[in-house]
Amino acid sequence: MKKFFKWSGIVLLMLILSLFLAVFLRQDIKFDAPYPNVVASTDSAVIARGKSLVFGPAHCANCHSSPEMEKDVLNGTDVPLSGGRVFDLPIGLLYAKNLTPDATGIGSMTDGEIARSLRFGVSRDGNALFDFMPFHNTSDEDLSAIISYLRSQPSFSRAIPENQMNLLGRFVKAFLLKPVGPDGPVAVSVTRDTTAEYGKYLANSVANCKGCHTNRDLMTGAYTGEDYAGGLKFDMPSDSGTFSLTTPNLTPDKTGRLFGWSQQQFIDRFRKGPLVPGSHMPWGPFSRMSDDELKAIYKFLKTVKPVSNPVKIGLVKEG
Ligand code: HEC
Ligand code: HEC
Repeated sequence: MKKFFKWSGIVLLMLILSLFLAVFLRQDIKFDAPYPNVVASTDSAVIARGKSLVFGPAHCANCHSSPEMEKDVLNGTDVPLSGGRVFDLPIGLLYAKNLTPDATGIGSMTDGEIARSLRFGVSRDGNALFDFMPFHNTSDEDLSAIISYLRSQPSFSRAIPENQMNLLGRFVKAFLLKPVGPDGPVAVSVTRDTTAEYGKYLANSVANCKGCHTNRDLMTGAYTGEDYAGGLKFDMPSDSGTFSLTTPNLTPDKTGRLFGWSQQQFIDRFRKGPLVPGSHMPWGPFSRMSDDELKAIYKFLKTVKPVSNPVKIGLVKEG
């Protein structure tokens, strides 16, 4: 019996060691994905369109600006996209990159590499990106406008540290992390108007309304709730205890937050910016969306399947 325990102990030890070895060896897995047919332009109208996406619905500024500029982002100001913001997650520390044309930024990335990272979730080094960005179905035309604006900014030198994964993060990277790509063929161009159709494109494929206002498993990112029914809960620890903030239901149901809101009330709400301190919603960039963009989103939200899901509004004390 003693011998049995001795041998099974050794086998177990070997298994654990080989797991660690595999985790260690699988930190640089390469993935293949096509380079989208997207090239930057120096046309001033295209650059202007890109800028309005970057600081508006696509809210790149919310994550790719420096943490010291948080107030300016909330006020909807143009800030340098110097990167440096850290996401402190259960898997480790993730850094949003410098997006200016500097060598510490996107200087050495081709248009195709930037477009591939946004559409297919494959980084410049060929690794899978953690799925933070909602642009897998963004049109060729809009990706090209975004990249055109990025190329036109002044350079800002800021070297961004490598991500620091903890053991769980390394395990996820070794065995679970796969690049996330589009749902199907992506449009070359999308007509910009005030229809629900365009609102759907903005809400699902540019502004990430769906990504936050649908419940999901925060570990894997998988959707667990009905589209736009809210319920995604963020914990917010503070000196006076832990609070939580849950995304409201945006479906046209009695229990939905927008029930009874007119189109004008919806637009006016976006002009006000954040009202709940620490809200995750990128209110700063969203306050810069045009009336037409907001009309389109409002119309689209009216067409979503109504789901009954009462959600407590505002900060809730958890302990
Ligand atoms: C919700 C936060 C968030 C938003 C919004 C966001 N990003 Fe990112 N971005 C990140 C994070 C985090 C990373 C690093 C991910 C990783 O290392 O796995 C990243 C990485 C990148 C990369 C690097 C890819 C590589 O190969 O190294 C590029 C380019 C990029 N983002 C461009 C953009 C652009 C352009 C926008 C707006 C259209 C944008 N991002 C919006 C968080 C965000
Ligand atoms: C990064 C997550 C995130 C994204 C992206 C996001 N929201 Fe939110 N949203 C929240 C959270 C959290 C709240 C609750 C706190 C608050 O009111 O700011 C909220 C609240 C709201 C409210 C209620 C505001 C109020 O005063 O009661 C509306 C309306 C709304 N979101 C619409 C949208 C729309 C439309 C989009 C896309 C254009 C969007 N959200 C994108 C997280 C998000």
